[in-house]
Amino acid sequence: MAKLKLITFGCQANEADSEKIAGVLAQEGFELTEMAEEADLILINTCSIREKAEQKVYSLLGTFQRLKVQNPRMKIGLCGCLAQREGTRLKDRFPYLDLLAGPGAMIYRIPEMLRGSPAPPVLPRPKELLPLYIHSPRPRRESLFKAWVSIMEGCNYLCTFCVVPYTRGPERSRPPEDILAEVEDLLKQGYREITLLGQTVNAYGKNLKPRTRFSDLLRAIDALVGREMRVRFTSSHPRDLTPDLIEAVATLKSICEHVHLPVQAGSDRVLARMRRLYTRQQYLERVGALRRAVPDIALSTDLIVGFPGESEEDFQETLSLLRQVRYDSIFAFKYSARPLTPAATYPDQVSGEAKTERIHTALQLQDDIALEKNRGRVGTIEEVLIEEGPNPKMQSTATGRTRRNQLIHFSQESLVPGDTVSAVIAEGYSHYLKGKIP
Ligand code: 5AD
Repeated sequence: MAKLKLITFGCQANEADSEKIAGVLAQEGFELTEMAEEADLILINTCSIREKAEQKVYSLLGTFQRLKVQNPRMKIGLCGCLAQREGTRLKDRFPYLDLLAGPGAMIYRIPEMLRGSPAPPVLPRPKELLPLYIHSPRPRRESLFKAWVSIMEGCNYLCTFCVVPYTRGPERSRPPEDILAEVEDLLKQGYREITLLGQTVNAYGKNLKPRTRFSDLLRAIDALVGREMRVRFTSSHPRDLTPDLIEAVATLKSICEHVHLPVQAGSDRVLARMRRLYTRQQYLERVGALRRAVPDIALSTDLIVGFPGESEEDFQETLSLLRQVRYDSIFAFKYSARPLTPAATYPDQVSGEAKTERIHTALQLQDDIALEKNRGRVGTIEEVLIEEGPNPKMQSTATGRTRRNQLIHFSQESLVPGDTVSAVIAEGYSHYLKGKIP
């Protein structure tokens, strides 16, 4: 059997894409290997969201070029958003590249490319890429009980910092029947949790005929899976957190009590320059409506610090928003200028030092908030899906996640990955909980 070494950078959509790549190539006779030296094909699934992710890819390519000198039969390819954005320009810079494929449905064309000429073809424009999932091979999933389910690709928002519309293209939704067939198959295979994926997952369905709202899809999935599966979804755009979606989250038993709702910034001036299409007040109103419907809902967010023109005062508004919302967890990023995006050309770029200081301040504040919140959960009982066995570093015997998506470690009980248990929260820290089985 031929051997494939597959390396993944970036978002959950990329993790899902890599499982699709492994599935497609399994049908072509490839099995996965950890060792690059013995690979017949090395594929790097790239990310373009920030510059750092790209630099890592370029340095890896240098390493793999040396392997190819020793083994000229080895093929090397790039998939994902960097490949899509740079296209055949990459071939000029790295002449030994054998294959280039963009993200999403482009994956299903990799076998033709492997059989075709060794020179990479010109990449089709993302708009031409229609999802081709229905008759495609099953993804080769990493977990036996948790699965990604891609429900849409691309994004129609044009946030001024973001490269995604230029790499993953405009929004396209999979037909609900197609998604339900995949979920039913996962149910039959014994999966316990699914995460519905899309760049703006809750914008799902706008281009479908007949129109299907995201909340309609959630209802149909809930009717199918009942209490057999937990259902998560990510990432949501605040503009599409509509009353019907809030009602679905509040009433459907399978939907977990967690929403990831990227805010990006707390200052209206910055939000407008980012083209987020909401004000701080509008965002807070949506959060309020969600919390009225599901009082104990967990909330997480993404933040960008040091967006062009962000003043110290603007940044203070982001901190005050963190204090006001009291998220359960956040992801904070230093602004990174991306090719093709409007903000990259804004003249008032923020210094590296200011970004470093701001990210530390934001993360420190969040740690304090989360610590307080998590200590406050001690004594409550939560449903946990066990995901991993013993972890010596954490001195734990098992690790899982609560429905609110919090990491929880156990130290006495021997629990089996894939099991769902009722746990008492025994201790709370900034980034995890410790649990006991009562
Ligand atoms: N610089 C820094 N962070 C970014 N993100 C998207 N684009 C950039 C950028 N140019 C962050 C946003 C988004 C998350 C996936 O990545 O916070 O929600």
